[in-house]
Amino acid sequence: MTDDRGSPTLTGVHRTAIGAAVARASHLWRDGEPKILRDEFAVPLSGLSQEEAVAMSAAFWHTSAGWVLRSRYTEDRLAVARTRLNQYVILGAGLDSYALRHAADLNELNVFEVDDAPVQAWKQARLKALGLQVPRQLRFAPCDFERQSLADALANAGFASKAPAFISWLAVTQVLLAGLGQRHPSVGRELRVRLGNRPYFHSARTRGRGGKKACRCPECRFLHILHAR
Ligand SMILES: C[S@@+](CC[C@H](N)C(=O)[O-])C[C@H]1O[C@@H](n2cnc3c(N)ncnc32)[C@H](O)[C@@H]1O
Repeated sequence: MTDDRGSPTLTGVHRTAIGAAVARASHLWRDGEPKILRDEFAVPLSGLSQEEAVAMSAAFWHTSAGWVLRSRYTEDRLAVARTRLNQYVILGAGLDSYALRHAADLNELNVFEVDDAPVQAWKQARLKALGLQVPRQLRFAPCDFERQSLADALANAGFASKAPAFISWLAVTQVLLAGLGQRHPSVGRELRVRLGNRPYFHSARTRGRGGKKACRCPECRFLHILHAR
């Protein structure tokens, strides 16, 4: 589906990618040096003006810390792992700019961005409008996690399933649950995934204020620690 300007229509869940990009970008104007992460592509990719992005960040987030720290941590771990692998999979990539920021030193590393098809089409239209060259190592793997097979989506994009890969999954489980809730109001608001040998469990039901127990999944615990400070 497209809007009246021919752009792919984004749902509220899709548009969280714009919010995440702006939250990451706000580190550039909110915080001093040294920067934890410099994402100079975030605002241009978001399609917002600088003024709109500043206003959005002021309205929604009192800190950019969680957003830049988890990306920086992930990219630092990837840098260490790169001696052992040539595949980086970004699940729910949204407007992630790793491949653009590292275009000059990707070398043999293939970057697989996975997200719902409308988001990827929207992002590719932004890249084109900005005149940005897509690195040859960047592969788009459209996939709706709730309805499609991730293995098939990755295989279609040239992923080597027998070769090692580094996988990131940042700021997605929460919105995945939100999407599920919108489309299927009767489904439970819990997500259970097995990553290697470690079960991963995120629960929207236990999050939030009002004396409810906080979700204990790794990402929520990390954010909880940050916000408690
Ligand atoms: C909050 S954004 C985070 C984007 C990126 N990881 C970042 O940190 O900038 C959540 C992303 O998950 C994607 N997403 C949500 N539900 C999805 C689904 N069912 N299938 C594929 N992607 C989904 C959204 O489209 C969005 O890009």
